[in-house]
Formats: sequence, C-alpha cells, structure tokens
Amino acid sequence: MAAKVYAFANQKGGVGKTTTAVNLAACLAEAGERALVIDLDPQANASSGLGVKATTTSSYDLLDGAPIAELAQPTAFENLFLIPSKPELAGAAVELSRLEDGERYLAESLANVEGYDFVLLDCPPSLGPLTVNALAASDRVVVPVQAEYYALEGLAQLMQSINLVKTRLNPRLVVGGVLITMSDARTNLSADVEREVRRHFGNLVFDTVVPRSVRVAEAPSHGVPITYYDRASRGAEAYWKVAMELVERR
Ligand SMILES: Nc1ncnc2c1ncn2[C@@H]1O[C@H](COP(=O)(O)OP(=O)(O)O)[C@@H](O)[C@H]1O
Ligand SMILES: [Mg+2]
Repeated sequence: MAAKVYAFANQKGGVGKTTTAVNLAACLAEAGERALVIDLDPQANASSGLGVKATTTSSYDLLDGAPIAELAQPTAFENLFLIPSKPELAGAAVELSRLEDGERYLAESLANVEGYDFVLLDCPPSLGPLTVNALAASDRVVVPVQAEYYALEGLAQLMQSINLVKTRLNPRLVVGGVLITMSDARTNLSADVEREVRRHFGNLVFDTVVPRSVRVAEAPSHGVPITYYDRASRGAEAYWKVAMELVERR
C-alpha cells in the first residue's frame, strides 16, 4: 500500500501542530507502522522534539529535488524516521513563491514515496508557500485547534485555503480530522470551545481530546515523544487514542 501523507496545518502558532505530528508518528511507529516525519517549519521544533539537532541535509534539499531516500534519517525510535528542518528553510519559502509551479515541488518529491506507511508533514504557522506545498502533497490534512477562546478564529480561512488547494492543485486532499488540543477539563471554557468546535465541524472532530499536560510540554526538551517520556501520562494515553482513530479513518 502506498504511504498516506498527512499535513498538520493551522496558520495559528502554538496550537499543537508539532506536538501532534511528533507524538502521532511515535505512536504509529511503535505500533509497527513505518512513519516519516518531514519538518517543514524553519523553527525545526519537530526535529528537536525527536532529538535531532544540527544536520547537514534538511527538508530544504527535499524541495530542491533531492530524493527522500537520501534525506530521511533514522531516529532513536524504531520505525520512526525524520527529514529535519533548519533555519535556511525560511529562504525556500521566498524562493518557492517566485517560481512557476512552486506550489508543487513537495508533491513531486513525495509522489510514489516508498518504504513508509505514514508520512507526516509538520507545517509552519502560516498559509504561505511551505504550507501550500504540504497541502498539495497530502492525502489528508489534520487541523489541531487549541481549546481556548479564539479557537475558531482563522479556521474559516484555513478551510478556504484547503478547498482552494483541493480545486487547483490536489483533488485527493480531504480534511482527515480536527483535533482539540490542550483542553483543560476543569474549566468551562474548554468545554464551551469543544462544544463550539463539534457544532461547526461535526464528525470531522476526533472523539479524543488531548488534555493540557505538563508532561506533554516537557517531553520535547528531552528530545523524546510523550509515549517515551511518560508512558502512563494522560497525554500519552490521548495520543495513542488519536493514533488509533487516525488508523481507523485511514
Ligand atoms: N497537550 C499539551 N499540553 C501542554 N502543553 C502542550 C500540549 N500540546 C502542546 N503543548 C505545548 O504548547 C506549545 C505549542 O505547541 P506546538 O506543538 O509547538 O504548536 P505549533 O506547532 O502549532 O506551533 C509547545 O510549547 C508545546 O510543548
Ligand atoms: Mg510547530
């Protein structure tokens, strides 16, 4: 079976894109699926979250046409591979926007990708050329939304961009799910936001809600996914459930 490609996108920063991409990849990998994370954010949080620091090659080279087989690195975790990012990737965004067909570079690099069951694209917090490239290359887009007051703000624009990419560049693209993150069960606010998000997006919303948890926030500073950092934590349990939902929806 060909790899399914997932983009984790939301133009808002700090909503849990990277945390979700890294932790879902880790759960899938542990379940025996070969997973490749491609870090498309010049801030390289997914790279450091998986314990990878300075590298020579990066996702910048992928956009330049270098083959995946040469760029994907093993991580410390079985079945889990990474194409890291580095700050230079910010320049690629500018270059891509100047090129004719600059929106399709990643799709071309990922066409017929072999050797993986899941490819997870961690997008930067914008709807710029890197995110458009990711959407153009994906089968599914997962939209993390933070359980806070302005959660729905910007989502209409995001859905519009997704539809535009679907029409113009990639008819296979569908929304694979909306994931509520950093929910605080003790507050009415989180419950209200969850209700609103479910009212707007219905079945698209994952049943599982990721709770706000200090352990989830701590894990990246140790360069490991939550399932390795604290297997018994509520955060690890939630990401396992989300991974199962993702596989069921595959
Ligand atoms: N469930 C959670 N509980 C607590 N902190 C979280 C949780 N998910 C993410 N965070 C923290 O929130 C911040 C933003 O998350 P991140 O995944 O980097 O967002 P994005 O990639 O959308 O910018 C990070 O510091 C991260 O560690
Ligand atoms: Mg991020």
